[in-house]
Amino acid sequence: ARYFALIPAAGVGSRMGGATPKQYLSLSGVPILQHTVDAFLNTPQIAHTAVVVSAEDGYVDDALGVSSLARADLSVFRCGGDTRKESVRNGLEALKNLPGLEIAEDDWVLVHDAARPGLTPALIAKLIQQVADHAVGGLLALPVVDTVKRVAGGTVTTVPRDGLWLAQTPQMFRYRVLCDALDAASEVTDEASAIEAAGLVPLLVEGHARNLKVTLPSDLALAQLYVSGQND
Ligand code: CTP
Ligand code: MG
Repeated sequence: ARYFALIPAAGVGSRMGGATPKQYLSLSGVPILQHTVDAFLNTPQIAHTAVVVSAEDGYVDDALGVSSLARADLSVFRCGGDTRKESVRNGLEALKNLPGLEIAEDDWVLVHDAARPGLTPALIAKLIQQVADHAVGGLLALPVVDTVKRVAGGTVTTVPRDGLWLAQTPQMFRYRVLCDALDAASEVTDEASAIEAAGLVPLLVEGHARNLKVTLPSDLALAQLYVSGQND
């Protein structure tokens, strides 16, 4: 089976604010999306990388350098949807229809947020290595280290953090399993939720803090630190 990367990049970044969607903000002079794409283009196991942007996106052609856009193993699909799940589902369909690719039902797809520019080829290789023999698939995630509180109904309780993990991406599943799970799922914020709802059990592989999702303005400085190589 081969490995494909699918990068949803069709969000508007409402929590970040500002006119430019966060995946097009620059870190060390390089757009976040380019950092993210580079991690996959520099991973030899990845057969093809596809980025999903919205139909009206006016940034992607400038954000991705000519040396990336010239690569035969990179595609940009303008089929983003209203939700991340829709963008991913549309991207999976576009992958299937890409001439010459002939994606098989049991090929792997690694879905990764455009907004996680700190991903490295080493983390991708670690995920692939640990999940390749797994029956279902898996994802990068981090054990919770803080004390967790639930505030509800006028009370505050402490949630035992034993067994609690924070999901990251990539999330890696077989093509057909992932399509079917997404089609059956209602609202999900990641692929693994759809897999779990289908009664399957994904493998959690320890990720890294540098693979943070850029969500709020305060995330930019930390992401900048990681991608500039001063910290890993
Ligand atoms: N995404 C997408 N299509 C959408 C919504 C999100 O492809 N309709 C992508 C984003 O571009 C991002 C990833 O999914 O790379 C993770 O989503 P998130 O961090 O929530 O990004 P946004 O939805 O853009 O941000 P916000 O929720 O703050 O608006
Ligand atoms: Mg969002």
